[in-house]
Amino acid sequence: MSGLGEKLFVRFLQIVYTLIVATVMIFLRLKHGPKLLETKKRTTPPKCLEGWNSRYLKLKNVRLHYVQTGEDSKPLMLMIHGFPEFWYSWRFQLREFQDDYRCVAIDQRGYNLSDKPMGVEFYTAELLVNDVKEVIEALGYEKAVVVGHDWGALVAWKLAISYPELVDRLVILNAPHPTAFMKVISTNFKQFRNSWYLFFFQTRILPEMCCTTFDYKKLMLSLFLCTTTGTFSTANLQRLPPVKPRTLIIWGTGDTALVPECAKNSLKYCEDGEVKYVEGASHWVQQDEPKIVNRHIREFLEQRG
Ligand SMILES: *[C@@H]1O[C@H](CO)[C@@H](O)[C@H](O)[C@H]1NC(C)=O
Repeated sequence: MSGLGEKLFVRFLQIVYTLIVATVMIFLRLKHGPKLLETKKRTTPPKCLEGWNSRYLKLKNVRLHYVQTGEDSKPLMLMIHGFPEFWYSWRFQLREFQDDYRCVAIDQRGYNLSDKPMGVEFYTAELLVNDVKEVIEALGYEKAVVVGHDWGALVAWKLAISYPELVDRLVILNAPHPTAFMKVISTNFKQFRNSWYLFFFQTRILPEMCCTTFDYKKLMLSLFLCTTTGTFSTANLQRLPPVKPRTLIIWGTGDTALVPECAKNSLKYCEDGEVKYVEGASHWVQQDEPKIVNRHIREFLEQRG
């Protein structure tokens, strides 16, 4: 498929999925009435957010918020959350590794207490990767153990590809290498179908509205939708250089958005990588099975040489 054909195809899918979701939303509104979109006013933050060491870092263009455990003198372990989350996704890892590392869990730009510049042009992969690069440098480190989940892992993959010298070790949780993802989505119908929200999220307003239904209790991300089959061209996939830093991929096999095949495929792009599957854990593997995930990370970091 040509570049234009691909763009039209993506636009087509966006429209199809938007129409489907809009229909579902209208149906739910008729069924449940105005309470569908009512949200409770919350004026005090939940108790579990108290007592964390919350800090800010001024980068060249944005100010990012992060939470730290461990001493400033220790090696850096940097954690990058996914969508639609924030630093708190790493609470179990922040506690687990605080004696050995300076653990820093950032809020990426656009999330929670970090700056949220207006306009999609401020959220390119390059800018997100650059934020992380600047964080490592601004905290005074030459390299870090970089841990990423979901879209945060995509940032971590790209950081390891573009700036391997900054990444001591790479830990990826339930997120495929970018090239592996394009290969799997174009050859595996299940993965293609499960990726519907990537197209849907290009629409304005409706995705946010879906997230607030029933006072945020049912993230409609888990909607299960089908569409006609189709493929992206693999011909014009970006050719990315191999991932040089030693890499651990941890994969919850119960992920409904990403098939486990993505993990094994990702290894092909790593010079030195391994996969640990966590049976039955969902996409949010580090919160579902913190003990198992922490053990895998620890064992991986202890292998030296
Ligand atoms: C950050 O997240 C916490 C927990 O969900 C929430 O209480 C707070 O309002 C959020 N702040 C912003 C500015 O998004």
